[in-house]
Amino acid sequence: MHIKVTYMNKRINELAHDLILEHIHSDSIIVDATTGNGHDTLFLAKHVKHVYAYDVLQTAIDHSKLLTKDYQNITYLHKSHEFITTDIPTYDGIIFNLGYLPGGDKKVSTTLETTIKTLKSIHQKHQGFVLIVAYPGHDEGLKELCFIQTFLDQTKLSYRIIKNNFESKKQAPQIFFWKY
Ligand SMILES: C[S@@+](CC[C@H](N)C(=O)[O-])C[C@H]1O[C@@H](n2cnc3c(N)ncnc32)[C@H](O)[C@@H]1O
Repeated sequence: MHIKVTYMNKRINELAHDLILEHIHSDSIIVDATTGNGHDTLFLAKHVKHVYAYDVLQTAIDHSKLLTKDYQNITYLHKSHEFITTDIPTYDGIIFNLGYLPGGDKKVSTTLETTIKTLKSIHQKHQGFVLIVAYPGHDEGLKELCFIQTFLDQTKLSYRIIKNNFESKKQAPQIFFWKY
């Protein structure tokens, strides 16, 4: 196992997009496990062949659809990301932006329970890359982040952690990235 931790001078979502660009191409099929307001889905749709975008909130799907209205290469799935590996037999990567819909209902957040379930099924499938932006600034987010770190350590996979320099250390979101 090898862990590489990098600190960068950019916003976390920009760092995530930079890293995604290094691992996708125009033929890629990528899953956005948490479409939210659609910023990541839009970014992916511009660069890859097809995007599958999940969210449990209809409001999120509606926002994302509006933002990506000029793109026909997106399939929206109004359901939990727990079903990714059964819904989509072949993909090149999966991205997660954990937490709740910015500007939306904070009670509808990704949870430790579903995140564990989904990551275990992805691990069984052993396919493509996984990128997760995790937010330890709220209770459930901290639990998710701790679980991901422990889970990765147990799998013996090599993985990267990327953080930025300018957010307070305790609250700072971080990126986990690994490839099967
Ligand atoms: C931080 S937001 C995502 C931001 C988004 N990637 C963007 O670019 O705007 C997290 C989203 O995850 C969704 N979510 C929560 N639990 C989920 C689950 N089990 N499966 C899929 N989406 C979920 C929330 O409804 C919320 O919209």
